[in-house]
Amino acid sequence: MVINFTQTNLQLRNMDFSLSEEHIMIRDAARDFAQTELLPGVIERDNKQEFPQALVKKMGALGFMGIMVDPKYGGSGMDTISYVLIMEELSKIDASASVIVSVNNSLVCYGLEAYGTEEQKQKYLTKLATGEFVGAFCLSEPEAGSDATSQKTTAIDKGDHYLINGTKNWITNGGRADVYLVIAQTDKDKGSHGINTFIVEKGTPGFDIGPKEDKLGIRGSDTHTLQFNDVKIPKENRIGTNGSGFRFAMKTLSGGRIGIAAQALGIASGAYELALKYSKVRKAFGTEICNHQAVAFKLADMYTDIEAARMLVMKSAWDKDQGQNYDKSSAMAKLYASKIAMEHTVEAVQIHGGNGFVKDYHVERLMRDAKITQIYEGTSEIQKIVISRSLIKS
Ligand code: CAA
Repeated sequence: MVINFTQTNLQLRNMDFSLSEEHIMIRDAARDFAQTELLPGVIERDNKQEFPQALVKKMGALGFMGIMVDPKYGGSGMDTISYVLIMEELSKIDASASVIVSVNNSLVCYGLEAYGTEEQKQKYLTKLATGEFVGAFCLSEPEAGSDATSQKTTAIDKGDHYLINGTKNWITNGGRADVYLVIAQTDKDKGSHGINTFIVEKGTPGFDIGPKEDKLGIRGSDTHTLQFNDVKIPKENRIGTNGSGFRFAMKTLSGGRIGIAAQALGIASGAYELALKYSKVRKAFGTEICNHQAVAFKLADMYTDIEAARMLVMKSAWDKDQGQNYDKSSAMAKLYASKIAMEHTVEAVQIHGGNGFVKDYHVERLMRDAKITQIYEGTSEIQKIVISRSLIKS
């Protein structure tokens, strides 16, 4: 039997798993920021459900709000590998910070840079990429979450403007954002081809922001329901060609899934590092608990799964940087990284015993934060749809 390795997506030549000096510098800068600026106050922010705008500005000053955006639009001009390194480091400490970064980068800046007009880029992207503005991506609705083509929000063409009506929910950055990318149905009969994306500015008459959701995890990040009642949007605020809104959302979400996979990886590795450290100092039955096989084997499983997740995350980032299709690889990275984040944050709590159940030890927060990575930007079940359809089509 002849095995045809070209059928796999692996390039076995020139495999190099080391990071460049530049990537190491970027990772270390994010690690340093997370330790010095995010760690102090992370428990209080989680309790109070807040994330100060001053910290968002600091992330903007470091270039974290427009990581992959072209410097001519105020971005950092880095690659996707840099993006996942930054996301992992921020997420080890504060997943609320990293979701603000992820949505702004992958769903808003990317969408505008890839599909926006030059005027839209000059007007909005330049401010979003520097952290002067924060963006939100508005796809989910009370009756259209996973089934994203079933948009009920309408945008009616009125000649020189569109009139938007409807409700969006679970919107990350929903309260703090300045710019909202709103996906709405413009022609019901055309199905997924009758959907468009619009730029809506905060403060537009008829656009109302509902109360902040009281969430299990990522409590520092603000999630809101948004109401649109006869919101008048100029024609020039539509992104892309007429009817391209669903494909815009799907392409943008594919990149978003790389960011959330990196977030899940960071949550898992943050929990692992805390568990390892704790197990080396906590004693039971006359020895440090890491010397008990019951704990040591948990650490071995955690580390192995984290390394496997890292390979998938890096592969999807590499696919994007190489200009290859990353729909499947980003779905695989998110599916696996979010699964092990959930499993191993539970194990990290277990290794900490009673201490794991109290807030001061951080692992209970990481466990709560892990859950959303299996839900937002496409549930695990949606990732399996994307992966399996791609396999069957090939
Ligand atoms: N790129 C380009 N086009 C795509 C695409 C992609 N990745 N995926 C689908 N399309 C196109 C299809 O080719 C098809 O086009 P044609 O009609 O021309 O053939 C069209 O879009 C419709 O596609 P499907 O028939 O596959 O649509 P579907 O109804 O079966 O749904 C789905 C596909 C993958 C399940 C999709 O609905 C989906 O991803 N759902 C999950 C939505 C999601 O991730 N929501 C998260 C909310 S955002 C969020 O969480 C942000 C936050 O604040 C953190």
